[in-house]
Amino acid sequence: MSSEIAIKVEGLSKSFSMYAEPHHRLMEMFASAESRHRWHREFVALRDINLEIHKGETMAIVGRNGSGKSTLLQVICGTLAPTKGSVQVHGRIAALLELGSGFNPDFTGRENVYLNGTVLGLSREQIAARFDDIAAFADIGEFIEQPVKSYSSGMAVRLAFAVAINTTPDILVVDEALSVGDEAFQRKCFARIEEIRSTGATVLFVSHSAGTVLELCDRAVLLDHGELLLQGSPKYVLSRYHRLAYAPAEKQDEIRRQLRSGDSSREEVPASGTAIDAQPTDEVYFDPGLKPQSTVRYEQRGATIENPHIETVDGRTVNVLRSGEEYVYVYRVSFQRAGLAVRLGMMIKTISGLELGGGVTAAHGTSNVVVEAGQQIEARFRFKAALMPGIYFMNAGVSAHGEEGETYMDRLLDAVMFRVMPEEGRLATGWVDFGMRPKLSLLEQDDARV
Ligand SMILES: Nc1ncnc2c1ncn2[C@@H]1O[C@H](COP(=O)(O)OP(=O)(O)OP(=O)(O)O)[C@@H](O)[C@H]1O
Ligand SMILES: [Mg+2]
Repeated sequence: MSSEIAIKVEGLSKSFSMYAEPHHRLMEMFASAESRHRWHREFVALRDINLEIHKGETMAIVGRNGSGKSTLLQVICGTLAPTKGSVQVHGRIAALLELGSGFNPDFTGRENVYLNGTVLGLSREQIAARFDDIAAFADIGEFIEQPVKSYSSGMAVRLAFAVAINTTPDILVVDEALSVGDEAFQRKCFARIEEIRSTGATVLFVSHSAGTVLELCDRAVLLDHGELLLQGSPKYVLSRYHRLAYAPAEKQDEIRRQLRSGDSSREEVPASGTAIDAQPTDEVYFDPGLKPQSTVRYEQRGATIENPHIETVDGRTVNVLRSGEEYVYVYRVSFQRAGLAVRLGMMIKTISGLELGGGVTAAHGTSNVVVEAGQQIEARFRFKAALMPGIYFMNAGVSAHGEEGETYMDRLLDAVMFRVMPEEGRLATGWVDFGMRPKLSLLEQDDARV
């Protein structure tokens, strides 16, 4: 990273005119200048944003849906004009924005590669020289010769990405577009972004994935209702963002005020010293805002799972955990019917639903637990939170042996949501902490030659 500025945003505001009815837009166009009636109201999507991004920096923009992230990227890329303020961009920008790939739907993939490449400032010869690489990266086969309107959204994103990152931009802007491609393609894109970064390019990135932001970015900013609330290291910004996002509605304004008044340029302030942290961040705690909104209960057959939650080993209910520590996942089951060979189970998943690991109280066909109607049992799964910082979900299930073999008596998906808190100086990468113990040794010349 150098001290040179790649993008400078000053006093930027962006408003949209909102019309209650589509024809109000016309009414306004035809209204006389003297007529005082306004047919629209102003919606402020970005409010007085100031931001500097240095050359070579990889910057994340985080924030809730509708907070203004895509609008900011569009203004930076020049596809939207600011209402107030200014944006300076130093270098050639390649962008992958949320809406539309910038392709002409009636032209073929090949023609669009040329069009797009020209927009990115390349000559026909330069594009021709890279065309094979672009087509190979997009890997959409014969569709490259078909009009883009016949593409699936995934295919369009693949091609758009292939163009954007094979034109060696000075600045690469990516708006969540990656999440459209399949995993193999995403992997390939991330690898390519890493490569582009290593050439000293600036990367501006919108993502809802905490893992990606922590892994990929040098710095992050938090947008909230069009306001730039916070900037700093990804870990610092994400932890405060999560606290705000999962706080009960009535607490959010208070938290916003604290974030605003706190000197946000101060990096990694000891958490216990700031007003925002009611609890010191290295202490695990219960955040009432961490409530899953995706809980699904399968059809019940004579049992009810109750009160699923996580406890510390000394019995405190928590949902903000520290990586590497032991916790207990607890739930009760009330039986309305008797159950034979009863087994209870659990699973930990990522936000995207990837099943990371779980456990059952007995292996298949080995349970000798018999429960009578009216009885209640409690399951306690002690586990180690060997996980990367981020948000996770837990399932719970109870099964028993019936006439048709083993069936679920009750099953809850996304019964519990928890967060693993960010951590300084983490060496583990990925989702799961395998307890790697890296060791380096300098080889003697003689050893090295073998
Ligand atoms: N062309 C437009 N006309 C009117 N309102 C708009 C327009 N574009 C965006 N908005 C509004 O501006 C706000 C910010 O939108 P934006 O797309 O920037 O959010 P975002 O942070 O990218 O959200 P998401 O995480 O869902 O992608 C939203 O309330 C949106 O409804
Ligand atoms: Mg967006």
